[in-house]
Amino acid sequence: EKDGYEYFMLKEIAEQPRAVADTLRGRTGTTGEITLDEVRMSDQDFRDVDKVFIVACGTSYHAGMVAKYAIEHWTRLPVEVELASEFRYRDPVLDRSTLVIAISQSGETMDTLMALRHAKTQKARVLAISNTVGSTIPRESDAVLYTRAGIEVAVASTKALLTQLAACYLVGLHLAGVRGVKYADEVAAVVAELSATPDKIEQVLAAMEPVRALARDMVDADRALFIGRHVGYPVALEGALKLKELAYMHAEGFAAGELKHGPISLIEPGTPVVVVVPSPRGRSILHDKVVSNIQEVKARGARVIAVAEEGDVVVAPHVDHTVFVPRVPTLLAPLLAAVPLQVFACELAAAKGHDIDQPRNLAKSVTVE
Ligand code: M6R
Repeated sequence: EKDGYEYFMLKEIAEQPRAVADTLRGRTGTTGEITLDEVRMSDQDFRDVDKVFIVACGTSYHAGMVAKYAIEHWTRLPVEVELASEFRYRDPVLDRSTLVIAISQSGETMDTLMALRHAKTQKARVLAISNTVGSTIPRESDAVLYTRAGIEVAVASTKALLTQLAACYLVGLHLAGVRGVKYADEVAAVVAELSATPDKIEQVLAAMEPVRALARDMVDADRALFIGRHVGYPVALEGALKLKELAYMHAEGFAAGELKHGPISLIEPGTPVVVVVPSPRGRSILHDKVVSNIQEVKARGARVIAVAEEGDVVVAPHVDHTVFVPRVPTLLAPLLAAVPLQVFACELAAAKGHDIDQPRNLAKSVTVE
C-alpha cells in the first residue's frame, strides 16, 4: 500500500536508500568479488569474456549506459550498450566469449527477451539484472543478479533504476575482480563509496522541497531540455524520459557537447534547460566544458537549472537554480543526480493534474515487441 504517500511513485522514490542498501547488502567483498544469485557460468567463463553488450529498454537502458562507462573503466573490456529493440535486427557480432547483460526490472520485457534469445543463438553468455525473481529473462539467462527494490507499482521507474545502477556497479566490480583489476586501489575505494551511497541518497531526498517548488512554478512549461556529459548524459536522458512519461511534455536529453551541432537552435528566451553538472574536483575538464555549455544556453536566454555537487561554487553564478547533491566518485554520481529529476517530473506532472502512477498509454510491463 501507499503508506500515507499520495502516489506509489512518491513512496518508491522515498524507498530508494533502502532499496539500494538491500541490493548491495552482503554482496561486496574487498576486492570487488560479488555473489551472483544464480550462476551457470564459472569464474573461467567470466575470465574468457572479451566483449560485453548491454541490452535493455527505457529506464533500464539508461542504467546500461551508465554501466558502460563503469565497466569499461574498471575492467578495460569493450562494452557496447544497445536498445534491446534494435539489437537483433542489425546482426551484432557475438560469440561464446561475448557477455550479454540484459537489464529488466520486470524480467518480462519482450524486446529484451528477444535480444537475449538472439544472443543465445550466437552462443553468447547472458547475465540478467532483474527485480523479479523467477521471471522469464532471469530464467533464460546463464547468470542472474537480482536487484532488491521490492515491487515497483508506479509505471515510471524510480527505485528500479537506482538498484539497477547498484547492480551494474557490482557486476563491473565482479568482472574486474575475477579478471584481475587494473585499478585495484580505485576499485576497493569504490566498493567503500558504494556502501555509503544509501545515506547520501537520503540526504538528497531530505533537500527536495526547493525542487518541488520549482516544478510547481514551471507548471505552464510545455517543453524542457536536459543536458549532461559522461555519466551525466544518461541521467539527462532519464530526466527527459520521466518528464515525457509523466508530464506529457516534450522533453529531450542531449549530450551537452552535441548542443552546438544542432539542438542549441531550440533555445529561446525562457526555455528550461536542466544541466547535470559533473564534479568540479581535480579541476575536472569535464566540469569546465559543462560550464561553457551552460554559458552557451544562458547567452540565448535559457532558464537553467543545474544539478551540481555540494561545494561547487563555480556553477551557481551562471544558472537560475542549483540543486546540490553530495560528493561521490564520478562514476557513482547517477545514483544521486537522478533523484532530483524524478522528484521534479513527479511534482510537475502532479501540478498539471496528471495520473502519476498510471500515465496515459503506458503499461508497467511491455510484453509485446
Ligand atoms: O521491466 P523493464 O526494466 O524491462 O522495463 C523497461 C522499460 O519499459 C521501462 O524502464 C520504462 O521505460 C519505464 N516506464 C520508464 O519509467
